[in-house]
Amino acid sequence: MPTPNLLEQQLTSAADQLRQCFGDLNYRALIILGSGLNAVADRIEESKVLSFDQVSGMKTSTAAGHVGRYVSGRLAGHDVLVMQGRLHGYEGYTAQEVAFPVWVAARLGISLLITSNAAGALNTSYEVGDFCLMSDQINLTGRNPMAAAEPAMIYDRFVSMYEAFDPHLQKIAQTAAAENSISLQIGVYAGLLGPSFETPAEIRMLQKLGADSVAMSVCEEVIAARAANMKVMGISLITNMGCGIEDSNPNDLEVQDVGAARVGDFYQLIEGILSSECN
Ligand code: HPA
Repeated sequence: MPTPNLLEQQLTSAADQLRQCFGDLNYRALIILGSGLNAVADRIEESKVLSFDQVSGMKTSTAAGHVGRYVSGRLAGHDVLVMQGRLHGYEGYTAQEVAFPVWVAARLGISLLITSNAAGALNTSYEVGDFCLMSDQINLTGRNPMAAAEPAMIYDRFVSMYEAFDPHLQKIAQTAAAENSISLQIGVYAGLLGPSFETPAEIRMLQKLGADSVAMSVCEEVIAARAANMKVMGISLITNMGCGIEDSNPNDLEVQDVGAARVGDFYQLIEGILSSECN
């Protein structure tokens, strides 16, 4: 008898639970809100919520500034599913556990992922408070959600990462930023496991690798979304210069504070993106 795929069963029942809670909606996007940006979800209209810990098979968010729940509602005239907070490898979760909420969204028929995070700048022309579109990623977490038997029974294990961040969506984001006078950089994102911040030597190494920004999330989600054939857009909020650049010594409080100050512009940016034709 073939081994039952536990992941498949868990994804099916989690998706059923979301449908029961939120109704059978035609979502435009899954939006993941990173550190400091969780408050964007408070602006979602007609919202309903479901905590991650109430969803069978799903882990709980334990990171500071991550509420840890799905919010379903309307933004810019579209139904959206929002993750108010995410799961991280540094919380002790496997890459598959981190990917789980993205795959649940894929089960609901969602074909667009807009993922966001707070990040440190490696590119010295960036400024704290800038937003930065991810043009590509360097996954330095040492982990991959497809490196397991069960996801590979559902999706093709050898996921193409060519144009992982959709170029057409990048243009839409740049237009929305320009129309709203929001500073939007574009560059290569490096994802590390964390949770310690980088050393100055690691920051210099990442610069040599060609990365423009660094943080401790996103890479596994992007691989998971591409495996499920979702289009992906990634946006970082630059909350600090990388450790050692201009004597920077980043800490989590600084990350939260910059997020709180930029939440309004981030909402506007997302609103502009969703208002454009992006599917
Ligand atoms: N490094 C890693 N993760 C981060 C940073 C950083 O400088 N800033 C916000 N998240």
